[in-house]
Amino acid sequence: MPTVEYLNYEALDDQGWSVDDDDLFEKAADAGLDEEDYGTLEVAEGEYILEAAEAQGYDWPFSCRAGACANCASVLKEGEIEMDMQQILSDEEVEERQVRLTCIGHPAAEEVRIVYNAKHLDYLQDRVI
Ligand code: FES
Repeated sequence: MPTVEYLNYEALDDQGWSVDDDDLFEKAADAGLDEEDYGTLEVAEGEYILEAAEAQGYDWPFSCRAGACANCASVLKEGEIEMDMQQILSDEEVEERQVRLTCIGHPAAEEVRIVYNAKHLDYLQDRVI
């Protein structure tokens, strides 16, 4: 089963780190963060990443669950995530900034790293409903 290693954007921000830091996940692993903020999830075949987080008891942000709002946005740092049809992110956000929606996203690599709760990033904030 693919594994998703996750880090909460708010925890990253509290620590004074940046999404673009190269050693972000190494720092996160050493920072003694709560499991809610940093850890790993196994995502079953056909399961969305948001659903896998919920199945593990986490309360990740979402609203529409259909690729139309950006509340559930994450930033992909390693691996790949395939999304179903989405209507909110620009090509630049997907291809260059590596934004992925967890409500309609499946891991497309055995190991994936994401910063979830990315709706707090400046360029996404105005599109969160
Ligand atoms: S919850 Fe709206 S796009 Fe994912």
